[in-house]
Amino acid sequence: MRNIVLVGFMGTGKTTVGRLIAEKTGMPLLDMDSIIVERAGKPITQIFADEGEAYFRKLERELVQELAATEGNIISTGGGIVLNPDNIADFEKTGLVVCLLADAETVLDRVRHDTTRPLLAGDKEAKIVELLESRKALYESIAHKIDVSGRPSPVPTAQEIIDLYAPNNP
Ligand code: S3P
Repeated sequence: MRNIVLVGFMGTGKTTVGRLIAEKTGMPLLDMDSIIVERAGKPITQIFADEGEAYFRKLERELVQELAATEGNIISTGGGIVLNPDNIADFEKTGLVVCLLADAETVLDRVRHDTTRPLLAGDKEAKIVELLESRKALYESIAHKIDVSGRPSPVPTAQEIIDLYAPNNP
């Protein structure tokens, strides 16, 4: 059975949608950020502060290789996974990769009070606009995309992904 891999910018709802798909399908949800935090024994902000972003990307890359070799899981990725095209290529081999897209306003709405994302520390709105712009082409290049901008509920998004996945499995 293929994996379902959820990709997209911070605050697009990957983990929430992943949880809903897990509830509906009974497939296990593996959240990459949570696995990294658990194994490192410290939060992402602390990993960035102690070891730097490059080290975090290395942990992320290793985990992609590990998880792309599994099957039948829902994998919720970190927003920066697209920075290394090998990550997407690896996940595509064993999974349905779906990218959640959202405009800056929607993202800002969802992460306004968040303090766990080091790349958004400081002027959140400016950081979101800048990062979204610099990564836009990477998210857009993923074959399956769902624009969740302004969507009040993650339920229809989860259902769309299940519908996309179901006809091709097992
Ligand atoms: C990041 C997104 C975060 C987390 C880290 C870096 C990014 O995950 O991996 O803070 O570079 O976009 P979420 O997308 O789950 O917020």
